[in-house]
Amino acid sequence: MNADAKLMDVAQRSCDFHRGFLALQEEHSNWVDNIRGKLPDDLTGTLFRNGPGAMHAGSEAYGHWFDGPGMISAVSFNGGRAHFKNRYVRTPKFLTDKEEGRVSGRGFGTQIRGGWFRNLLKPMTNPANTSVSWHGEKLCAFYEGGQPFRLDPFTLDTLGPEYYGGALTPRTTISAHGKIHPKTGHQINFGVNLVGLGWRGIKCALDVHEIQSNGADVRSCRIPLSKFPFLHDFALTEHYALFLVSSVNFGLGGPLLGTATLSETLSYDPYQPMRGIAVDLRSMTVAREFELPPGIVVHFANSFETGDELVTDFFHTTSTEGFAWLGDVFDVQTVAGAQLQRLRLNLKTGQTHTEAFDSAPIGEFPAWNTDQTGLANGFCFYVGHSPDRESGFFNSLVTLNTHTGAFTHTDVGPNRYTSEALFTTRAHPRSENDGYLLAFVYDASTHRSEVQVREAANPDNEIAAVLLDHHVPFGFHGHFTRELFLS
Ligand SMILES: [Fe+2]
Repeated sequence: MNADAKLMDVAQRSCDFHRGFLALQEEHSNWVDNIRGKLPDDLTGTLFRNGPGAMHAGSEAYGHWFDGPGMISAVSFNGGRAHFKNRYVRTPKFLTDKEEGRVSGRGFGTQIRGGWFRNLLKPMTNPANTSVSWHGEKLCAFYEGGQPFRLDPFTLDTLGPEYYGGALTPRTTISAHGKIHPKTGHQINFGVNLVGLGWRGIKCALDVHEIQSNGADVRSCRIPLSKFPFLHDFALTEHYALFLVSSVNFGLGGPLLGTATLSETLSYDPYQPMRGIAVDLRSMTVAREFELPPGIVVHFANSFETGDELVTDFFHTTSTEGFAWLGDVFDVQTVAGAQLQRLRLNLKTGQTHTEAFDSAPIGEFPAWNTDQTGLANGFCFYVGHSPDRESGFFNSLVTLNTHTGAFTHTDVGPNRYTSEALFTTRAHPRSENDGYLLAFVYDASTHRSEVQVREAANPDNEIAAVLLDHHVPFGFHGHFTRELFLS
């Protein structure tokens, strides 16, 4: 069954988590009166979230979850009430696909219909679908294969590509995992770029950026790389940015010739060490390079410095299962997770020590109290699979005490599946985890979504849920800000 047929098939199913990948075509802006429980009076701010709003254009399906057009959702919490809004990011890709009713551009795992000749030398197009961030008075939707798109935070209208005063160009990229330094207010981010041709082939580089708190001025450095890396996220401490290049290889020939997507050329090499690069943000120079045993790292949790050591937590795997299902979301049986690990790097000696949080459930989409980003902390929040429901999409919330290894594991409810959950503190927090977990949860029984508000210190306690009268497709990353943007 081809992808288009699967899309139609899944739409016929009556109660299935796969329908959480179906499109939300309508754009809403309304107060939500249907609240289960009572929203906390001190929960004030806006939960922005990004993800593919559709997995098809006209009758053609995208070939990979990473390729659907970005749709921003915004839930505003104010005075015990909630307002929901969603808008597609008007990228050139979105507008052309919509106008032509077909997949008009290539993606990470999507080819233009019609064979290799129609894909020859065609670059990947930017769906702006991976994350969204409010920083420097700018709301931007990010995709790691291109530049961000700036949005109006009140209307979610697309204002255009954001180049940060020339730090980026239409040909350079920036990741979807920028992190905001709580002491300086600067956003640290990076991009992987093709920078020329050498006798060994295409030259690649890692560009590291410090976008100042005004959202305009940028300090950058460029680090040459020996090959095109798998680099999706990074670790930020008070003074360092740490990168772990996974034991993953890409073939660039097929994508250039139009015979393969970048996703199809991805392979794991179990004998290839991971390469670590620590960048000193004060001097914007490489402070230390090192190797780790082979593995794949997609997402980092929080990181910090203690003495000469840099400590970082990240999800680690040696399985490519996670890559396989991303290309066929309508047929996936179980969304794969990974094991949380802690790396200690001695910056003076270069010695490393890695230890897994063995007893903690596997999972993904780590979150933490972002007031502590880059600083010592003790709690990590992520999504996983409930012991009672180990198949399907993520369906549980995990809170892990990284000092003791103790954890809680909460099912988000019958026939319900959750995307990334974010943490925000109460108005006057008494401790690091004194706050709320905010999660977009899909109810497969009703084909509707809800935004659950749970007590972070005890997620079994659902405080409230904002019940939408439609679904919101499963998505990637979001951002919570205490600011409100209600007209
Ligand atoms: Fe990510």
